[in-house]
Amino acid sequence: RTTALIAGSVGKDGYRHYMEKELHEHPVVIGQTLQRLIDPATRRVVLPDLPFDLACVPRAVVTACGSAFYAGMIGRYWLEQYARLPVDIDVASEMRYRDPPLVPGGLGLLISQSGETADTLAALRGMRQAGQHIVSVLNVEQSTMARESDAVLGTVAGPEISVASTKAFTAQLSVLACLTVALGRARGHLDAAAEERMVTALLDLPSRANEVFEQRDAIRRMAAIVAEARDVLYLGRGSSFPVALEGALKLKEITYIHAEAYAAGEMKHGPISLIDRTVPVVATVPSGRLFDKTLSNLQEAKARGGRLLVFTDTQGAPRLRELAEVVVEVPAVDEFTAPIVQTIPVQILAYEVALLKGTDVDQPRNLAKSVTVE
Ligand code: G6P
Repeated sequence: RTTALIAGSVGKDGYRHYMEKELHEHPVVIGQTLQRLIDPATRRVVLPDLPFDLACVPRAVVTACGSAFYAGMIGRYWLEQYARLPVDIDVASEMRYRDPPLVPGGLGLLISQSGETADTLAALRGMRQAGQHIVSVLNVEQSTMARESDAVLGTVAGPEISVASTKAFTAQLSVLACLTVALGRARGHLDAAAEERMVTALLDLPSRANEVFEQRDAIRRMAAIVAEARDVLYLGRGSSFPVALEGALKLKEITYIHAEAYAAGEMKHGPISLIDRTVPVVATVPSGRLFDKTLSNLQEAKARGGRLLVFTDTQGAPRLRELAEVVVEVPAVDEFTAPIVQTIPVQILAYEVALLKGTDVDQPRNLAKSVTVE
């Protein structure tokens, strides 16, 4: 089955649920979104014209709700690490009432699939009043937030029908990754070689994302264990921490199983007391700088009788196989783009558990696609 046409396709295209169709659209929407922001001839990131100078932005304040907020958290790790830009971030329902002291001329970065979420819109207006340059990462480009922004960076995800967001998330990450490269260059923190490496990693994503679907059987084995649980603990470090948060949110939303995500290093300050055979531990552990740190957290969980279900990559897998009950091994990619690839199997896991539970995948109880009231 091919997923050729995204924009304008509003049917299920033979899939059982919109969510399944939209999961399969990850590779295409990542590619489409990057195409708008990377010049294929020069292999450089080219943002649309901005009415301010990126190089002069002293700091960024990021806000969003739900999955878009977790995309923003990954953006923060990137902007800090690669562009050396100070970043503050909070959920929009908090940000709008925090009234943080913002330096005029800062970057107000909003992320929203719909462009209509009431809290995010209110935070946008607050930031504008505080003299921030408003840049919004939006999927619906004719939305209220689009009209009220100084610039819009579009996610080319096409219509997202399933209430639980999937493809919009990786499209948001694709935009934030390009913004990171542009800011890193503008601020003099990325040389040509570093930019080339990051762009190569980005352009490689659609193929790598496609390969994730080869792991469907291993993800189903994980799902069988998760579906039996009442509580599930998700762990990750660094940019894998928001991936864990996204995984736990997706599981709660569509399966009604209680899930909590923790920064792996924080587990010893509380949640470790919950661990036994009935509470599976789902960890995202790509190879790289933080691999060994997370591995030792998993050893602690295992020593307490925890059942480990691990998302890693081809490089990390050999060291995790003896520890974990199920290992999902996606392609090893640059550390920069790892959270984009790692998100896909985590979302598929929630979908597979929902199938086993027989819940209403596309229309979970009590949830709305777009929350336009406070
Ligand atoms: C709702 C949806 C979530 C979404 C959030 C933010 O809660 O169910 O999937 O992440 O709103 O929506 P937005 O349109 O602003 O991205």
